[in-house]
Amino acid sequence: MEILSKKVFKKSESFKDFENLKSLSYENTLNKIFQIYEKNQIYLKEKFDHHFMSILNEAINDLKNKRKNSDMFDLKKNTLMEINSFSNDIDIMKYLIHRYRYEIFPQKKIIDKFPPLLQIEPSSICNFRCVFCFETDKTFTNKKNGFMGTMELETFKKIVDQIHGKIEFLTLASRGEPLVSKNFVKMLEYCKGKFLNLKINTNASLLDEKKSHAILSNDVKTVVFSADAANDELYSKLRVNGKLETTLRNIKKFAEIKKKHYSNKKIITRVSGVKFSKDQSFDEMLKLWGSLVDQVAFVDYNPWENSYEKEPNHISKPCSDLWRRMFVWWDGKVNPCDVDYKSTLTVGNFNSLNISEAWNSHAYNKMRDFHLDNKRSSLTPCKSCTVI
Ligand SMILES: C[S@@+](CC[C@H](N)C(=O)[O-])C[C@H]1O[C@@H](n2cnc3c(N)ncnc32)[C@H](O)[C@@H]1O
Repeated sequence: MEILSKKVFKKSESFKDFENLKSLSYENTLNKIFQIYEKNQIYLKEKFDHHFMSILNEAINDLKNKRKNSDMFDLKKNTLMEINSFSNDIDIMKYLIHRYRYEIFPQKKIIDKFPPLLQIEPSSICNFRCVFCFETDKTFTNKKNGFMGTMELETFKKIVDQIHGKIEFLTLASRGEPLVSKNFVKMLEYCKGKFLNLKINTNASLLDEKKSHAILSNDVKTVVFSADAANDELYSKLRVNGKLETTLRNIKKFAEIKKKHYSNKKIITRVSGVKFSKDQSFDEMLKLWGSLVDQVAFVDYNPWENSYEKEPNHISKPCSDLWRRMFVWWDGKVNPCDVDYKSTLTVGNFNSLNISEAWNSHAYNKMRDFHLDNKRSSLTPCKSCTVI
């Protein structure tokens, strides 16, 4: 199999292919945003503090001057459906503030009190061994080495309590398969009504009716089903231990439950594959999955399955993730990224460090400085990582 690998992995452009199956107008969405913004000026100034209001003003300003500069804030294909999913106008404004923080802060190298996105890992254990994933690294998955486990519900609740109202973008997934966790349903229930943009990633192999109902009834904004192929043979080659038949059956069932019981719910469903080989066809993906979900995508392959063995490269640009997102793993370890899946870069443990302290810690800022000073080569695994 010929592997597709890029010299740099540009996180802000990691969608290789992306298709919204429902047509959405960019111009209409933009006009809706401008109308809400103009109409609610007084209320918005009461609702948001000075910091958030100035971010909103910047975002609107960029949208009004669109396409003048490629680094300006714009509405990407994947955001259109999210924006149109809100029934409350003010939520759209709030969403723009946090989307701006997510997309533009990493470019402008701004940090404020909280990361734009937090990823919490319910489980580092995965039932698959996808060829392109670090779950193939036996030094990682060997139980004796201490990396494998699932998060206690109490730890999860404590994190959510701390970030509720501060962080709006939360993803429940990082290294393992979240549905392996026996607390998964309870975790979703605890998140209900607390986040504007709650996302989960799952390989869907363990998706049953109970979990489908939990996803559909607890304010998940986007559920990403990871699947990389549209035929049995290729699927099994890439998603080792997985079977296309099972994944397809579970996603079909999920779509049925959604249609029957939650037809008014504006949850976004996506099938997303890692574009790893030339053998994968996006047209075939669209044909198979297009009628079952709202979006189909391929993301670029990020060569992270052997982060610690790869030769150093000569990338000098800073990694944007240091300003974009932070991870809390099942055991409370707070980490700056998932390419570092064995946490050599951890800044501490959630048990002794709160989320805001971790994000603004000396250790984190030191890492950022190394990256800004063209010295990512002194950090492992940054020296061999291609993410910018
Ligand atoms: C590591 S997985 C964990 C969550 C879950 N087990 C799943 O399959 O969705 C999170 C996401 O990363 C993607 N992924 C895995 N390996 C990748 C790689 N080498 N490059 C880019 N994305 C990758 C997966 O397809 C999935 O969408």
